[in-house]
Amino acid sequence: MKDETIQQRPDSSLIPHTPSLSADDSSFVASPSSVSSVPPSSFSSELAAIRDQGLYRVRRRLQSAQGARIRWRGREFLNFSSNDYLNLAADPRLARAAVRAARRYGVGAGASPLISGLSPPLRRLERELAGWEETETALVFSSGFAANLGVIGALAGPDDAVLSDAYNHASLIDGCRLSKARVHVYRHADVHHLDELLRREGPSARRRLIVTDSIFSMDGDEAPLREIMELAREHDALVVLDEAHATGVLGEKGRGLAELLLGEDVFSGRLIRIGTLSKALGSQGGFVCGSRPLIELLVNRCRPYIYSTALAPPCAAAARRAVALVQAEPNRRQHLLGLAGVLRARLQDLGFASTRSQCHIVPVIVGEATEAMELSARLADRGLLVPAIRPPSVPEGTSRLRISLMAGHTEEDVERLVLELKRSRY
Ligand SMILES: Cc1ncc(COP(=O)(O)O)c(C=O)c1O
Repeated sequence: MKDETIQQRPDSSLIPHTPSLSADDSSFVASPSSVSSVPPSSFSSELAAIRDQGLYRVRRRLQSAQGARIRWRGREFLNFSSNDYLNLAADPRLARAAVRAARRYGVGAGASPLISGLSPPLRRLERELAGWEETETALVFSSGFAANLGVIGALAGPDDAVLSDAYNHASLIDGCRLSKARVHVYRHADVHHLDELLRREGPSARRRLIVTDSIFSMDGDEAPLREIMELAREHDALVVLDEAHATGVLGEKGRGLAELLLGEDVFSGRLIRIGTLSKALGSQGGFVCGSRPLIELLVNRCRPYIYSTALAPPCAAAARRAVALVQAEPNRRQHLLGLAGVLRARLQDLGFASTRSQCHIVPVIVGEATEAMELSARLADRGLLVPAIRPPSVPEGTSRLRISLMAGHTEEDVERLVLELKRSRY
C-alpha cells in the first residue's frame, strides 16, 4: 500500500501540509469572497447529508452523575459508555476537595497561567503529578485535547518531521496539521512501516517526532511501545505518547502503558508522556510530564497553553485528590482489568467479532453504521447504555459498540451485558 492511501482517523485523510493553517493568525481570517460563497441554507443541506449517511449525532441529556448506573430519559441504565474508568468523577472525596478549593480560591481561574491564572491548587496539582510520575516537573492544561494539540505544535515546525499512527486521536491529528511539519502517517501499530518511513525521511529534518496513543480509544489495543522506543533511538527521534486511556489504569502505580512496558526507559529523555485528568482521574484537564527544559519550552511556545485560561481551581483540587487515590487504591484498577479479561473471554466464546483489545475498552464490531445504531438502541430498550461508534470516528464498515468498563461494575453486570448482547444481536 502506498503512503498516500493510508487513512488517518477520524478525519480519514492523509495529513496535508495545509498552507491555510498557518501559525500566523491573520491567515485564519476568511476572505470576503469565501464568506459570501457559502449561503446560510447550506447548513441544513449539510445536515441532511449527514442524516442520509446515518451519521447524525445528538447529545445525550443525562439526569444523574457519572457512574456504573446512570439516569437518562427518566430511567436507570447500566452504563458502559463512560471514560470515568475508576468511578472517581462522582466520588465525594473529590467533590469535597473541589468545594474547599472553590470556597478559598473561587470557581474560575480568571486568566492564562502566564498572566495570573496559576492558582495554588494548580501549582499543588503539578507538584503532585511530577511526584507520581517521577519527573522533574509537570504542566497542566485545561484539557487533554489542548495538551496534545499544543505539545506537537510547540515541538514540531516546518523543518521537522512527524510520524503519526493512522488510528491516532483527533487531537494528535490536529496537532500534526497545525504544526506545519512534514507528516507521515504509518499503518496502525505497524513498526515496520514506521521504520520504513523514518528511513525514507532520513536525517534531514531538524527533529523527528513519533506520535501515538498508548491505548487506542476506539479499539482498546496497545501501541507497540518497546519497538517504537527502539526505533526512536535508532533514528534519533522523540516519542510523544498520549496516555489518555491508560492514565490511572495501567502500570503498577497507575501511570500508564509506559510504566507497564518500559521499565527505566520511561525516564528516557526521548519519551514525552501526556496524560488526561478527565477520564480515569474523574476531573478535567490534561498534563505533560518531563524535564524542566521541556516544560519551560512548552510554557514559552505552546499556544493552547499560553492563550487559554488556566484550569479552574476546583478541577485542579479534585484532580490532585484523584492522583492520591489512584496510588492509594490500586484495587480499583485491578478489579477493572480483571472484569475486562472476563468480558473479552465471554465475547470470544460467543463468537462476537472484536479488536485486539487488551484492556478495559472492549469493542464489538458490527459493520454498518445503521446496524450498530440499531443494536445500541435494542440494548438501550433493555436498560443498557452501550454507545455505537460510526465513521468518521472509525473506518467505514467497522462501526461498532464501544464497551467501556468501570471499576464500579460487578461480574453480574458483565454477565448481564453478555446475555443482553446475545439476545439483541439477532
Ligand atoms: C486518546 C485521547 N486523547 C486525548 C483526548 C482528549 O482528552 P480530554 O477529554 O481531556 O480533552 C481524548 C478524549 O476523548 C482521547 O480519547
